[in-house]
Amino acid sequence: MEVTECRASDVEVLERVDSTGPNRWHEHKYQRQVAGLSTYLVAWDGDVPVGHGEIRWDGCASPTVLEAVPDCPELNGLVVYREELRGRGIGTALIQAAMERAAARGCERIGLGVGADNPGAARLYERLGFVPAVEYVDVWSMRDQHGVSHRFEDPGWFLVRELTPPR
Ligand SMILES: CC(C)(COP(=O)(O)OP(=O)(O)OC[C@H]1O[C@@H](n2cnc3c(N)ncnc32)[C@H](O)[C@@H]1OP(=O)(O)O)[C@@H](O)C(=O)NCCC(=O)NCCS
Repeated sequence: MEVTECRASDVEVLERVDSTGPNRWHEHKYQRQVAGLSTYLVAWDGDVPVGHGEIRWDGCASPTVLEAVPDCPELNGLVVYREELRGRGIGTALIQAAMERAAARGCERIGLGVGADNPGAARLYERLGFVPAVEYVDVWSMRDQHGVSHRFEDPGWFLVRELTPPR
């Protein structure tokens, strides 16, 4: 298993394995990377993508988090696609890759959001040194297959991990 930064040619491969329909999220994340706003990390088992996470260098979209934790990039949308591949270290590898890239850029910390209904993920993050920083509501929307947008509000916590600068 390896973790790479998304390439243009990966976008359709990602859509085939993790279809996002009219949302075209892989394309959007890749375009944010091209614009310098993020780094889109993809985990691979051979030539099959198995998970992803996006480092948003400009931080969390929530004003509550931005105010409480300024200058903190966010690892957003972390996921391992297939249930049977979870619990095998892929998520940990994506988080470590994100922490390394943030430290190499000189960031003093990195954060991520976790839903109040996701204690399994919270346990993993806390084991990797993330600590709760601020409670907030993650507001996001997605389009269904008819193109109709639906808005979601997920209460949870923004967790922060302090980083050691590279020598
Ligand atoms: C959370 C997630 C990214 C972690 O990746 P992973 O490869 O499964 O995790 P690792 O193998 O590196 O670490 C294992 C730990 O992850 C957590 N975990 C494992 N399976 C999980 C699952 N289905 N859902 C949530 N957390 C899970 C547990 O804390 C586990 O540790 P434990 O075995 O001591 O309980 C992945 O399980 C996943 O995609 N879950 C569903 C989507 C999700 O919850 N995303 C996170 C949004 S904040």
